[in-house]
Order: sequence, then C-alpha cells, then structure tokens
Amino acid sequence: MPLEEIILSLLRLQKGHISAKNLANETGMSISAISKRINLLRKYGYDVELSHRRGYRLASETDLPVPWELVKVLNTLFVGKDKKIIYRLTTHSTQKLAILLAEKNPNSDGTVIIAEYQKSGRGRKNRKWLSPKGGIWLSVVLRPSMPASNITLLPFAAALAVCDAIKKTTQLDAKLRWPNDVTISGKKVAGILIDSSIEAERINYAVIGIGVNANVDSSIISLHLERSIKVTSLRNELGHETSLLGLTKEILERLEYYYIELEHRVPHTIIEKWKKNSDILGQKVALMQSDRTIQGIAADVKDDGSLLVKADNCEDIYVVASDIYVRY
Ligand code: BTN
Repeated sequence: MPLEEIILSLLRLQKGHISAKNLANETGMSISAISKRINLLRKYGYDVELSHRRGYRLASETDLPVPWELVKVLNTLFVGKDKKIIYRLTTHSTQKLAILLAEKNPNSDGTVIIAEYQKSGRGRKNRKWLSPKGGIWLSVVLRPSMPASNITLLPFAAALAVCDAIKKTTQLDAKLRWPNDVTISGKKVAGILIDSSIEAERINYAVIGIGVNANVDSSIISLHLERSIKVTSLRNELGHETSLLGLTKEILERLEYYYIELEHRVPHTIIEKWKKNSDILGQKVALMQSDRTIQGIAADVKDDGSLLVKADNCEDIYVVASDIYVRY
C-alpha cells in the first residue's frame, strides 16, 4: 500500500493535525483521493481522527497484523520474509488461497496469508470454521525438505508454536489436545489444519492453516458447533483484548523455530515437547467411531504422532486420524 504508507508517514511526522489540503500538496493527490486512502487506513485498524477545522490526526496505530507493520517486528529467517506476507480484509479461506499459491508458485516457501475475516473458513474433516473479525486466521506455505513420513508431525509442531505464543503473550495456561488443538481450561481456543501434496515420497508443499479465537465472542462460535465441542476465546478468558499483531509475530516465529527443529533434528523432540504441554495423557477418552464408541485412557503419543489408548477392555489402540473427545 505505497500511497497509504506515504500518508501514514506524513501523519506520523506531523504528530498533531494536518489538513487535507497539505496532505494533497505533499503527495500530489486530490483531496478526495486523500479521503479514500484515509478510509482505507481506518479499515486497516488505524484510528485517524478528522477535525473539520484542523484536519487529520493519527490518534492510534493499528494492532492488526498488516504486512507493513508485521515485517517491522517479525524476527524470522524465511517465514514472512521478502514481501511474503499477503493480507486480506476479507477472503473465502486463507487456506484455499495458500494452496493455489503453492500449486502455481515454486518460490512460495515461507509465504504467509492472513485474513481479517473468512467467508468460508475450513476446519479439519471439512468442517466449517467460523472466522469473524477479531481472530487470527492465517495459512503458511512450506516446501519442506524432510522425509514425507515426517508430515504427520507438522501439525504437532504448529500446535506447539501456537500454544507457546499464547502462553507468552497472554500468560494464560494454554494446553495441547491430541491431535492438534490448543485449549484453555479444557475449551478449544485454536485449531490447526494441514493440506499437503506428496509425490514419490517427496513433500511438494505443505500448507499450515492456523485459526485462533483471539478477540472474538466464543458464544457466537459455539452456536455453530456440535454441543460436545467446548470453545473459548482469548478475550473471554482474559476479559480484555489481546494484541493480534504481537500474537501473530510470536506464532510465526515459534512456527519457524519448530519447523527448523523438525527438519534438522529427530522428530522425537517435537513429540516430547508436545507431551510436556499437553494435559491429555492419563485422561479418560472416548473414541467415537462410526459404528461404536470405545472408552479408555489416553496413555501415550508415539513418535509418529499416533495416540495410544489403553481401552477399558485392556486392548491397546493406536489412533491415527480419528477424532477423540476428552471427558472432563
Ligand atoms: C480445526 O478444525 O481445528 C482447524 C481449523 C483451522 C482454521 C484455519 S483459519 C486459517 C485457515 N484457513 C481456513 O480456511 N482454515 C484454516
């Protein structure tokens, strides 16, 4: 947004008010073009006041993870670097956009797509993911050079990153729930979705979708879910808003950290860290299968990411991709 950025820097330089006429003179734009750009800045979360006598004043900076602000604070090696952050006020799904990009652009490694609002956000198992304004809805394109078998560990690395980031920025006691949910007091606050393309044992690309119920009203989200799924949001837990810019920065930095760890070290480390942050082990679980429900205790998570359940009938069951519901 080069033209908005010029207006933004003039507003910042001025500190107080600057008239529309002066902004127009400085930028070579018309007064109506200035007004349009100011409205766009407001949509991007900047509070620009207008006094009819004195002109415009930047009352407060944005807290949205818009690319030009995120790059200033983001401390990563390749994720979101080199203009690889795309921001949309509205889109159908960041995941859909990221997959299209990964399919057509071989240089898309590390690209981050963020949306303020998703019209048709997608959850695991093709469920709908409600994505109103106030949440963090993003997808990251990765082109991993790791064995295709490690792909099952990517969601664990991503969930761990989100859990770390929430703990660091909010001090809330976030936990991990198998396979890749982040919870607070047993209620889901964030979810991870992975789409990948694998050819001949080689990972062509992986798209990691991350959804965090940050500054949203969790009661609205609950209305759209099955009653057995309990959800919360950071705002509901904290009683106040949290910085979307700060939280997005932390998520991306931690995601890159665990991703590099997964590429260069034994997968075992990711699962060990995941287990330390999870409260599921030792808990009663019910495995909901199409024709039956198996009750048991969640005993372990194996290095390939599968969950070992000691069933009440003494059977050992390794769960790979089924949904489990933890009873509290
Ligand atoms: C889950 O079901 O727990 C996973 C939810 C993942 C939602 C995120 S929001 C950003 C990205 N775009 C989507 O459409 N879905 C993922």
